[in-house]
Amino acid sequence: MELKSKHLLGIESLEPSEIRLILQTADSFLEISTREIKKVPTLRGKTIINLFYEASTRTRSSFELAGRRLSADILNFSKQTSAVVKGETLRDTILTLEAMRPDAIIIRHGSSGSAYYLTTFCRSHVINAGDGLHEHPTQALLDAYTIKQEKKSFKDLKVVLCGDILHSRVARSNIHCLKKLGADLTLCGPPTLLPPAFGAFDVKIQHDFDKALEGADVIMMLRIQLERMQKSFFPSIREYSRLYGLTAERVARAAKGAVVMHPGPINRGLEIAPDVADSAQSLILRQVENGVAIRMAVLYLLLGGKDSENVG
Ligand code: CP
Repeated sequence: MELKSKHLLGIESLEPSEIRLILQTADSFLEISTREIKKVPTLRGKTIINLFYEASTRTRSSFELAGRRLSADILNFSKQTSAVVKGETLRDTILTLEAMRPDAIIIRHGSSGSAYYLTTFCRSHVINAGDGLHEHPTQALLDAYTIKQEKKSFKDLKVVLCGDILHSRVARSNIHCLKKLGADLTLCGPPTLLPPAFGAFDVKIQHDFDKALEGADVIMMLRIQLERMQKSFFPSIREYSRLYGLTAERVARAAKGAVVMHPGPINRGLEIAPDVADSAQSLILRQVENGVAIRMAVLYLLLGGKDSENVG
């Protein structure tokens, strides 16, 4: 089996079987990062451009490590030190980089649809590392992988996704991913950050966090994205934290064995209490670790192979 598209733009366009293929392929790559020599020759001779117009720690580093561990050559492009600051457009930047014959371009950009835009004139494989408010597909894939590692099956698994849903591309990708995998998904947040339009995703909507948490198997918290807010969406940070902050008392309302997740970066003490973020139930750093394996799987399936065999 192989992925149907030569690009990864979002989860919405993936079949459930394609999601399962990526998760299964990541299994083969997870072990490579625990070896003393963390490298296999799978993508030797391939060139990947890491093009980040927005800040990133996790996604940029793990795509770079994923490519290097597969022996690809990586070019890291930073907006701040490029001709973008002299006014070069996105299209001219991409055409310039494509003239150097890369095989894949990984892009993070503040505009929704930017990754798709590249596919309209690019020869390379395009991978979306987060586009505006639209999607962040590899984040949802690594989240699904982490849940599967811990809970084995998605069937009837009660997942609560809480926080700034409105501004979150992670939320959109996770909604598509978890629905396609069969989870029982509840979205939670203040009405200003979780408007009624999200009901169209055929998920449960709950504005009372304490009620949403009852019986939850997985609690996924989202960062309050103050940098994307042009106006005030809640009376105060303190008020938001009181109503929607995840505390140890609130975790106790969830099902026995519930796990806590967050895509990062976290606002400690705002959407998640420090003791919860650092607790044994927290999978936050496991998500980061799994991110490398998922991104190796995506690069391999798009650039190198057809299935989870022969990964090196
Ligand atoms: N989760 C996530 O996308 O983190 P970064 O912004 O650090 O890449």
